[in-house]
Amino acid sequence: MGFARAQPAVITQAGRAVPPGPRGISFLWRLLRAPDGWLDFLTWCQRQYGNVVYFRFLGVPACLINDPAGIERVLVTDHQKFTKSMDYRALSRVLGQGLLTSEGEFWKRQRRLVQPAFFRDRILSYGGLMTAYTDRLIETWQDGEVRDVHRDMMRVTLEIAARSLFNVEIEGDAGTIGRALTVVMDQMPKLAGFAFLPDWVPVPGLGAFRRALADLDKIVYGIVRDRRATGARPGDLLDMLLDTRDENGAGMSDLQLRDEVMTLLLAGHETTANTLAWTLYLLAQNPEQQSRLEAEVRTVLDGRKAEAGGLQRLPYTQMVLMEAQRLYPPAWAIGRKALQDFEVSGYRLHAGTNVIVSQWVLHRDPHLYPDPERFDPEHWREEVAGRRSLPKFAYLPFGAGPRVCVGASLALTESALVLATLMQRFRFSLASAERVKAFPSVTLRPKHGLRLRVEKVK
Ligand code: HEM
Repeated sequence: MGFARAQPAVITQAGRAVPPGPRGISFLWRLLRAPDGWLDFLTWCQRQYGNVVYFRFLGVPACLINDPAGIERVLVTDHQKFTKSMDYRALSRVLGQGLLTSEGEFWKRQRRLVQPAFFRDRILSYGGLMTAYTDRLIETWQDGEVRDVHRDMMRVTLEIAARSLFNVEIEGDAGTIGRALTVVMDQMPKLAGFAFLPDWVPVPGLGAFRRALADLDKIVYGIVRDRRATGARPGDLLDMLLDTRDENGAGMSDLQLRDEVMTLLLAGHETTANTLAWTLYLLAQNPEQQSRLEAEVRTVLDGRKAEAGGLQRLPYTQMVLMEAQRLYPPAWAIGRKALQDFEVSGYRLHAGTNVIVSQWVLHRDPHLYPDPERFDPEHWREEVAGRRSLPKFAYLPFGAGPRVCVGASLALTESALVLATLMQRFRFSLASAERVKAFPSVTLRPKHGLRLRVEKVK
């Protein structure tokens, strides 16, 4: 196993080595010609220039880092030298100062506060409702029909997140949230591209974005208001947030509560929905692996409901999900901005450089994964058995370091329970030969939904 050799570094006037990469017009030309935009462009950069690639986008210095040791440096060892990158500024238009977008001492305090909602015993207690909501979804499915399984997965994971974290039945609002989120996600790459402009500058599509945001706000403020009004105390995450007091004894403002609820509701379901939708797509393309999965679920569960505490008995289910997250990582890139000059993989880079770690590029690197485009759950047999076979930081669906995903265990449990429940009742096949395109917004979504044929298991 080795890494692509980087081309010789360019020496700048300041006498510092700058990593190789596309410059000037060649950069724009490549980006515009890439059929899947950033996904293809970043992959091309890494194949062409190696594991550390430097370029400027609209004048902003950026550096793609694909070397696991370099990634460890940025996300873990030297994490205090970085802050979240400009793209998160666009995201904060939706999430405000929630856990994903806040920084510093404020972030630390919020993280400590939210963390207990994701302890193991809590997650185990959500298992029953995860399978129950999945059952309720598939009761409406007709044998042989073609369905947009992305939309279905968005609905079920939203219902699960709302109920498990905030004790709310969101059924009536699920359609509005789904539509609003699609508008937000469609506009987000544009907003991220213009993130360096002040908020008052009109950006095309901003009107639709604001209307969608207003719809989301109405629902989220409603959740907070209803809890305050009923005075109910179910002891869930919302209670924890409502009970928080700062050093002066003041509770969270409605705006801060809104930001945390919005963050956890959106981050807590969209990524899991994408994982499940892409998994079903890959299984539909690979009937042999789908049959193996179906056999595992049939033999182990023998008609019983899957349980959160028994997932170790479903190793192939976990391997399938890990492989799907390798090929279609719902978080396809992580961005950081250097607060000071830093060194990585033999290069010295300036403060202000935006660092990109792209799971899409990393997870398809042929030096790390032989035959990287092939769907092969066997990649994960050793890892699932607790034996490491890959370099650390070669697989990062949930990020790494202090900002690692707070909901990783919840997401893994939920995806396995939902997938096992689906496989007990249905088989999935392609509804058309057309490739489903991936759209890299904040998360990696199917560009125009994901239509599959569902057939009842006899
Ligand atoms: C398959 C599902 C999921 C994936 C792939 C995923 C991925 C990620 C990644 C890569 C990060 C790190 C971002 C960065 O370093 O900039 C992150 C952070 C985060 N995720 Fe997830 N996530 C998933 C599910 C969830 C769930 C279920 C929740 C909550 C219910 C959640 C809540 C969060 C939050 C709040 C953060 C920010 C953590 C912090 O900065 O302290 N995620 N997620």
